[in-house]
Amino acid sequence: MKNILVVVGSSRKNGNTDQLADAFIRGAEAAGHNVNKVFLGAKKIGGCLGCNACRYGKPCIQKDDWAETVPLLESADLIVFASPLYFWTVSARLKAFIERFYSIAQEDPDPPLGRYEWYPQKDCALLLTAADDLFWTFEQAVSYYRFTLVRYIGFRDRGILTAGGCGSTNGRPCIEKTGHLDRAFAFGQGIYAAKKSDLVPELEVEPW
Ligand SMILES: Cc1cc2nc3c(=O)[nH]c(=O)nc-3n(C[C@H](O)[C@H](O)[C@H](O)COP(=O)(O)O)c2cc1C
Repeated sequence: MKNILVVVGSSRKNGNTDQLADAFIRGAEAAGHNVNKVFLGAKKIGGCLGCNACRYGKPCIQKDDWAETVPLLESADLIVFASPLYFWTVSARLKAFIERFYSIAQEDPDPPLGRYEWYPQKDCALLLTAADDLFWTFEQAVSYYRFTLVRYIGFRDRGILTAGGCGSTNGRPCIEKTGHLDRAFAFGQGIYAAKKSDLVPELEVEPW
């Protein structure tokens, strides 16, 4: 049994991304995992101000909802980042949330080349929704996830689910008309399965 935190970077409650995250959560809970969810659309979490107070042992100076999410981050084995695609990358809400990781970094006396601090060691996964469904649709968002969260912060990738063709935000969410919710359920159910291939249908983007 793992502790899973799902962070939803959408403002639309029960929108495409929220539904995709909930399907993942149902699957993970069916497999016996304990899941917490943070819906960023209901939180006030600003991007990092670069004041560097946290680098001098002080808490983040921003008095917003970030602090209440830190214990959830700390207790999670797996953090699932869910976002609608906004201008070909993750939403500003999710990006702002990730920027605040700066305040939980610790000094690393011996960092590898290109990293300057130490971050808590977690597993991670990515869920994305978009209107388009072309071969390049998710390229920037996936690249950001891989370089920032996996390569730089050092989280261990458990997989990526891209859900294209969900329709624009000019109307009701359409994700239920696609097969993505079933795929997300299977992804959640199988994310720690011994033989993942039994449960997880082929993903568009495989973990590297
Ligand atoms: C500001 C904005 C930018 C968007 N940019 C893109 C985009 O670059 N590519 C795309 O395919 N869809 C884009 N979309 C559509 C959303 O990604 C898509 O409708 C998504 O599933 C919405 O998720 P939600 O229901 O969780 O808000 C954009 C929507 C908005 C509001």
